Amino acid sequence: MEKVKVRIKVNGSDSDREVEPRLLLVSFLRDELGLTGTHIGCDTSHCGACTVLLDGRNIKSCTLLAVQADEREITTIEGLATAQGKLHPIQEAFWKHHALQCGFCTPGMVLSAVALLAQNPTSDEEKIRHGIAGNLCRCTGYQFIVDAIQDVARQMKDAGT
Ligand code: FES
Ligand code: FES
Repeated sequence: MEKVKVRIKVNGSDSDREVEPRLLLVSFLRDELGLTGTHIGCDTSHCGACTVLLDGRNIKSCTLLAVQADEREITTIEGLATAQGKLHPIQEAFWKHHALQCGFCTPGMVLSAVALLAQNPTSDEEKIRHGIAGNLCRCTGYQFIVDAIQDVARQMKDAGT
């Protein structure tokens, strides 16, 4: 199949590649760029393990073709911490609240939380549960994840952001 040129900005850097038109975005990230923090759990748009940000909105990267992300901006879990290694506040909160066990769902869960609080910083528990409804976790029972996200929402409120 004839390859197509794409330019996708991933974690702040342009990535130029020639890809097959049928290549999924998740495979582009993992196989072309080596960003294996984006996980594949189901490949059928159910689990949310493959969640990334597309122009700031959380999407399931197994449901999008790489060519559909051409000239768009993607953030993966690898792009959240600063270059100096300082974790994003959501990552800090997951650590503090023990919001992960095996960690398989965590990158997608964290990115959904980042998108949720960017859109709605004053999210209460109900909104948080709704915001992460597309991300499945087999380990934690969700409560500690909700606690972590709520903690950051509170911090943002206190800081007036
Ligand atoms: Fe994409 Fe499960 S791998 S939703
Ligand atoms: Fe194991 Fe969520 S921590 S699936």
